Amino acid sequence: MAPGSRLDPETRQLTRAIARAGSTGITAKQLAGRVRLAPDRIDHHLRSLAATRTILRHGRGLWSLAQYADHLGPSARSPAHYAEGFRRGFGVPLVPAPTEIQFGSNERLPVHRWWPYVQGFSAGWVESVLRRYGAGPGTVVLDPFCGSGTVPTVARALGARAIGTDLMPIAAFVARAKLTWDVDPTAFRTAVGRVLARRGAPRLPLPFLRETRRQFAPAVLGRLRTLRESVDAEPDTDLGTLLRLAFAGIL
Ligand SMILES: C[S@@+](CC[C@H](N)C(=O)[O-])C[C@H]1O[C@@H](n2cnc3c(N)ncnc32)[C@H](O)[C@@H]1O
Repeated sequence: MAPGSRLDPETRQLTRAIARAGSTGITAKQLAGRVRLAPDRIDHHLRSLAATRTILRHGRGLWSLAQYADHLGPSARSPAHYAEGFRRGFGVPLVPAPTEIQFGSNERLPVHRWWPYVQGFSAGWVESVLRRYGAGPGTVVLDPFCGSGTVPTVARALGARAIGTDLMPIAAFVARAKLTWDVDPTAFRTAVGRVLARRGAPRLPLPFLRETRRQFAPAVLGRLRTLRESVDAEPDTDLGTLLRLAFAGIL
């Protein structure tokens, strides 16, 4: 069954937009930019879709479960069944994670909370895995799919040499910024003051993105553009990298 085919028009809009996001998931804020519904209607429908397990809600993320129902069908088994298959097939026991593995808890942690990433891992879980495999001084940790850089950031904190790469330029940028640890906090505060003090109308044209215009009121968008141009006026140093991440983090 295609996601949303037997639902009312409002719910169908929502389930289709969520299904289109695929396994990456979508946040409620992103969803609001993709459907023509008032926030209270969205909230109402999301609650009932989660209650009927049509969608999965976790932290800020939303995923369509309907698309997986088709794949699994009536042959779907319990998690223990798949864990046993994994152990037999690969010789690796699947153990319950000692902590939550999704990004949610990072929102309370310094550095990790700078850029919420729906796909991100929890720093606590990453630390438990890295410790289990002995990461620390004298070891190298490579994460070729590092996303927002949780693994390299935790690895560096444990004293390991950390290397990360990611296909998505914004994720690679965020990871690099989160590994920028040598900026003087006083110099950073001074630069923030400089950025906020620059005023005036934005000078550069905004690339036309329908979503951007839907998500921000014109006055807010104008202020954000001025702020962005002010951040861009700062040199491309480590300090400038942190300023750019701070700007990305408030959007
Ligand atoms: C589950 S996320 C990793 C999240 C990360 N552990 C964190 O905590 O932020 C998987 C990442 O793999 C990246 N990716 C997918 N295909 C890739 C490829 N071929 N090369 C490099 N990165 C890739 C995606 O952009 C995504 O950021």
